[in-house]
Amino acid sequence: MNKSQPKPVKHSQTTITELMIPSYANFGGKIHGGILLSLMDKVAFACATKHSGNYCVTVSVGGVEFLQPVDVGDLVSLLASVNYVGRTSMVVGIRVIAENVKLGLVKHTNTSYFTMVAKDENDKPTPVPPLLLEEREEVKRFIEAMQMKRIEGSIKEKLDDVKSRTEVDKASEILKGQSCVIAYK
Ligand SMILES: CC(C)(COP(=O)(O)OP(=O)(O)OC[C@H]1O[C@@H](n2cnc3c(N)ncnc32)[C@H](O)[C@@H]1OP(=O)(O)O)[C@@H](O)C(=O)NCCC(=O)NCCS
Repeated sequence: MNKSQPKPVKHSQTTITELMIPSYANFGGKIHGGILLSLMDKVAFACATKHSGNYCVTVSVGGVEFLQPVDVGDLVSLLASVNYVGRTSMVVGIRVIAENVKLGLVKHTNTSYFTMVAKDENDKPTPVPPLLLEEREEVKRFIEAMQMKRIEGSIKEKLDDVKSRTEVDKASEILKGQSCVIAYK
């Protein structure tokens, strides 16, 4: 396969639909977040693998917030698209919707972004084809993903800085008003 030949977004768009069965539920009768994460990982893998033509691994996950619960009996669909391509990495956007077929209700539960890296037969990152952007919305998503990567990079730097400067000796002052008690043994 020619790896420098751009591939259209549509080539790798992937949808998984799965029925939420009782064994996926927690004690409150709602679907475990981990079940949805596992389905998101599967669809991200399928989408990234189709684009790259290689096996891919998950490197990072962004934007996971479950704002609406999913119920047993719902049909959950995960719609995945490659939004951005770097040298060996891809950002796969995943829109998750849950449908109550009986009531005809459709909920958008979350949209998350999985960064996947293509690996060669020696388990090393390998280049992926460029993305052919054929629609305005695809151009918009590519730019957004690029900007999100930059912001994540600068947040990571700031977090590393905060971690390196955490002053445990001043804890009783810093933690005043927080919901914790220091009780060293
Ligand atoms: C991710 C991994 C491939 C990076 O390997 P590496 O030798 O550091 O490779 P590189 O530095 O060349 O990075 C490869 C790509 O990953 C990207 N990347 C690395 N760390 C990243 C992070 N924390 N977040 C987002 N992207 C990241 C790099 O930007 C690069 O992308 P690009 O080629 O498009 O510019 C390696 O750490 C790995 O295999 N991790 C395990 C992944 C896995 O097994 N996941 C399954 C869950 S158990």
